[in-house]
Amino acid sequence: MKRILSCMQPTNRLQLGNYLGALKNWVAFQDEPGAECLYGVVDLHAITMPYDSAALAQATRETAAAYIAGGIDPSKSAIFVQSAISAHSELMWLFSTIAQLGKLERMTQFKDKAGKNSERAGLGLFAYPVLMAADILVYKATHVPVGDDQKQHLELAREIAGTFNHKYKEEFFPLPEPVITGAATRVMSLRDGTKKMSKSDESDYSRINLTDNADAIAQKFRKAKTDTLPVPASKEEMKGRPEAENLLTIYAALAEQPMEAVLTQFGGAQFSVLKQGLVDISVEKLAPITKRMAELMKDPGEIDRILKRGNEKANSLAEATIKETRALMGFWS
Ligand code: AMP
Ligand code: TRP
Repeated sequence: MKRILSCMQPTNRLQLGNYLGALKNWVAFQDEPGAECLYGVVDLHAITMPYDSAALAQATRETAAAYIAGGIDPSKSAIFVQSAISAHSELMWLFSTIAQLGKLERMTQFKDKAGKNSERAGLGLFAYPVLMAADILVYKATHVPVGDDQKQHLELAREIAGTFNHKYKEEFFPLPEPVITGAATRVMSLRDGTKKMSKSDESDYSRINLTDNADAIAQKFRKAKTDTLPVPASKEEMKGRPEAENLLTIYAALAEQPMEAVLTQFGGAQFSVLKQGLVDISVEKLAPITKRMAELMKDPGEIDRILKRGNEKANSLAEATIKETRALMGFWS
């Protein structure tokens, strides 16, 4: 049986990269026969960087609303809140005795987020990937659909599972497989084609948010960085032109067309033509999501009920794992 688990942090609004790199693939798993899906809002991860405690609960609801608006059906998948399932934190502590400092020091996300002053970074930010391993393994998840940037974290989760199994019981935890698929596993910033599109980039012009209206989408694509040549007409011509490649990739992913077709359609044209195409396809694909999200946010009570149901399901699975884990590790009970 397949058990699918993935999560996002309730930090800021979801952006196009979250949708194309992750959420769209989550939705596809729901209808796979025999696949059980759990999707979490990881608020304990969100507090590893400076955050607004007055806005956290609402951001959690909003992230859940984005999941539902993006196609996650709460009657098929459990949508849960990480902090409501205490087994995540407990398993993280147990794993912290297995995870090696040297491995954690190599995590590029930590280096990026800690910046120059890493001496002052919090222990939580450093241990972030260990909590992520616990998120996955507490459900004995077999498949984890994520964007390309999470590869290294998944690798660590597999290592932790392997070490635990070797120490305590072979095949106790499945080695979770990263599922990094789709046309756009790494959507780049609209301002700099070498940087990842991110919820936390200081420039809002760097990203398309799932809550942007048609005007905002149009403005952002019009201002998107390009180069002075016409749109590339082949993969060969795309090389060394990260902004052009990114815009074409976004188009291919949203239009669900192969890159070759997109290159044929726009190759040789001015970028303004591609940008107009991007505005049209983005509005067409994102407007229904934005609208549904706004509707859902009008009834936070209903979102809370959905989360409570998801939490119950998640909690029963997680509690079973943590009980077994405690026994395997030899704790008094
Ligand atoms: P985060 O926003 O860091 O909570 O990311 C949630 C999910 O979205 C993870 O699976 C990420 O890999 C994915 N993701 C975030 N940004 C991008 C991006 N620019 N391109 C593709 N996937 C992304
Ligand atoms: N680290 C992921 C991100 O920043 C979020 C995350 C936390 C996650 N726990 C997870 C993703 C478990 C997949 C599975 O995008």
